[in-house]
Amino acid sequence: MATLTRDPHGTRDAKAGHDVERGSFRVTSSHLIYFSSVSGNTRRFVEKLGRNADSIPLLPTEEPLLATEPFVLVLPTYGGTGGHGSVPKQVIRFLNVEQNRKLIRGVIGAGNTNFGDNYCMAGDIIAAKCHVPHLYRFELMGTPDDVRRVNEGLDTFWTRLSQNQN
Ligand SMILES: Cc1cc2nc3c(=O)[nH]c(=O)nc-3n(C[C@H](O)[C@H](O)[C@H](O)COP(=O)(O)O)c2cc1C
Repeated sequence: MATLTRDPHGTRDAKAGHDVERGSFRVTSSHLIYFSSVSGNTRRFVEKLGRNADSIPLLPTEEPLLATEPFVLVLPTYGGTGGHGSVPKQVIRFLNVEQNRKLIRGVIGAGNTNFGDNYCMAGDIIAAKCHVPHLYRFELMGTPDDVRRVNEGLDTFWTRLSQNQN
């Protein structure tokens, strides 16, 4: 297991991938992090991008993920009544970790236009809560055009971000 660079919760020392009180994390330096349920649409889209990517675990029994580098989050919407519960609970759990929240730089929403006004609502919610841009929306596993546009967009996004930091 990789070594943590800092305390994921900002409250206590963490070392060697193990937070003494809260258990261990799987550490990732990927700039693309996604969540996908058992239907796997989002995973298939991300695989088509051909980029290094890591996934937020589906099951609570799996080790939670800890980001160590800035990342863009790709997530599907699973809406209930009035958009309640749109953000998958696995993603909420991931973003409840302070270090993950600090490193998110943008969001890409996946969904289905059949859901009308709630299309990709989870992306809107995360963008508002984390104060990051909702960079793109796509349906199901995305089209070849979505893949091309997201790849070009991510290249531009990361280039601009690194220029702004210098
Ligand atoms: C129960 C259920 C609720 C959904 N709610 C929404 C929704 O509110 N808005 C939306 O855009 N898509 C909604 N979708 C569509 C999913 O976001 C879409 O199928 C997505 O590709 C699933 O990604 P995954 O297979 O990676 O989990 C819903 C799908 C299901 C099964």
